[in-house]
Amino acid sequence: MAASLRFAVAVTWALVLATTACQGLEVGYYKKTCPRVEHIVRDEVKKFVYKDAGLGAGLVRMLFHDCFVQGCDGSVLLDPTPANPQPEKLSPPNFPSLRGFEVIDAAKDAVEQACPGTVSCADIVAFAARDAAYFLSRLTMKIDMPAGRLDGRVSSASDALNNLPPPTFNITDLIGSFAAKGLDAEDMVVLSGAHTIGRSHCSSFVPDRLAVPSDISAWFANLLRRRCPANPTPANDPTVNQDVFTPNALDNQYYKNVIAHKVLFTSDAALLTTPATAKMVQDNANIPGWWEGKFKKAFVKMSQVEVKTGRQGETRKHCRIVN
Ligand code: HEM
Ligand SMILES: *[C@@H]1O[C@H](CO)[C@@H](O)[C@H](O)[C@H]1NC(C)=O
Repeated sequence: MAASLRFAVAVTWALVLATTACQGLEVGYYKKTCPRVEHIVRDEVKKFVYKDAGLGAGLVRMLFHDCFVQGCDGSVLLDPTPANPQPEKLSPPNFPSLRGFEVIDAAKDAVEQACPGTVSCADIVAFAARDAAYFLSRLTMKIDMPAGRLDGRVSSASDALNNLPPPTFNITDLIGSFAAKGLDAEDMVVLSGAHTIGRSHCSSFVPDRLAVPSDISAWFANLLRRRCPANPTPANDPTVNQDVFTPNALDNQYYKNVIAHKVLFTSDAALLTTPATAKMVQDNANIPGWWEGKFKKAFVKMSQVEVKTGRQGETRKHCRIVN
């Protein structure tokens, strides 16, 4: 082989290996280095979620908000510092609504006791979100969560604003925002099913959705008008459950709510506005087990968005501070 060709072959292999290494998350990644990590995280999540199911909803949302901004790298966990006063967690999509940070802190503390300096905060977020889904689904949603994510060092509020879809998005914009993360329209529809748990602040849908005319069911709109001020402010911004029927159950009720026009956001209602996504909504609502199977796959896919490996990241000692 000519030297130049050998070189080309070597470079090609290096690229192939580097590419696979980047996507190289593995189920059981800590089997040798921290065999009990997944039990430890699950026990912490269980304690908190059985006391307050809302924290479980917060953790499921936290994985989404981590992954869409700088990839799944724990960047959403970083606290403000003098050098970086506006991290992701202070951005409007996250502050003050994103919750569950104390669960991640507790899990990290427990994991550090068992295996110091071994498990990334990004992996703890993914494990904790997976476990929250398990408990809120009444132990039915079992997901093998691959791991091996490293923690990022960059966290900026404007990044969060630019990458997280707002609740006013229409179907075109929603599909575009997920496509930018390598997720397709079906992933978007299936992952939106997470709006079957947790809550929303009134400011996230008033006045957008309570103006007349609106496609929202009259009964549901009236219920929301009774709970929400006409002009929510930070000082007066109550919350309402996303799913009025089974608020703490991770189930397919969300899709029945979409069909019945009993959902909070324009982005939820938007799923009915194209034939393709409307069909997905129908299937998720009507075929037993259909959504659950799809959700598990899409959740794992989302958990692998732009993950960092090798020199792109670190294993943080404290989840709120870079090393
Ligand atoms: C499709 C685009 C999405 C939009 C526009 C969106 C928007 C929102 C908004 C505005 C809230 C309410 C925040 C508040 O005011 O308290 C919310 C809550 C929530 N979202 Fe989404 N979301 C989307 C996708 C997702 C995905 C992919 C997941 C996870 C797989 C998710 C999980 C949740 C959960 C669990 C809550 C409740 C959080 C709590 O109770 O603390 N969302 N979402
Ligand atoms: C969706 O909203 C964008 C503006 O954000 C607009 O340009 C586009 O035409 C809208 N698409 C639909 C299908 O309404």
